[in-house]
Amino acid sequence: MIGIFDSGIGGLTVVRAIENLIPDVSLLYFGDTAKTPYGTKSADIITEYSLRNCEFLVSKGAKILVVGCNSASSVATEIIRQEFKVPVLEVIGPAAKRAVSLSKSGRIGIIGTRATVGSGVYEQQIGMMNPSCRIFSVPCPLLVPLVEETWTAKRETKMILRRYLHPLRQQQVDTLILGCTHYPLLKELIQARMGRKVALIDSSVEVALSLRQLLSRSHPGTHCYQPVQHAFYLSDITKNAQKIATRLFGRPLEFLSP
Ligand code: DGL
Repeated sequence: MIGIFDSGIGGLTVVRAIENLIPDVSLLYFGDTAKTPYGTKSADIITEYSLRNCEFLVSKGAKILVVGCNSASSVATEIIRQEFKVPVLEVIGPAAKRAVSLSKSGRIGIIGTRATVGSGVYEQQIGMMNPSCRIFSVPCPLLVPLVEETWTAKRETKMILRRYLHPLRQQQVDTLILGCTHYPLLKELIQARMGRKVALIDSSVEVALSLRQLLSRSHPGTHCYQPVQHAFYLSDITKNAQKIATRLFGRPLEFLSP
């Protein structure tokens, strides 16, 4: 059983990516919708919430933890690894690695929440992998609420994106990391604004690939072949969460209270 948590419903993009890539594992999801957003909060609070989320997932039988939230991954991964004995995957490293391998010019853009961009973690990781890369990061705090309002095709969203992406276009990045779990839902608009030549890195897909690699190195007891059963927990079950989930999966999800 794989435990995944996010600050809310954004991490469902991670669930979707894992489901597409590794359909034979059971997933346990916890979305902390009662406390969302994390991206505007301090590192201490995000860490405290993240530890609590991991405790819940482990108590429900998670054998691997996936921090499916960029804001939590940026500030809490180290402490989660210290506190829990199970393997812990996070979304930053895999996305950074893909960006470094894909970028030809070494000019890499990052968009994320204030917590993620403020942590400087992408810069650190990319710098360690290839110190000659130039990184340009832009916090985009308005994007999460727009996605949550399902304003993913509105003119206003396009205008805000134009403003946020302008400096990255000016810097001529050839690779852009979508450093927030909500942003895959804006992928088409972002791609259209950045141009087809800019490679977009979706951190949810990259962490799913890492998980597949980890599982192929074999973790007995993790796979649950018969039958695959997912459980989705939300700390606050709202109609809007259901709406976004249905949109993302093309089917309604049954949400449970912890
Ligand atoms: N899930 C968060 C992330 O990936 C975005 C939403 C929030 O701010 O809580 O950073």
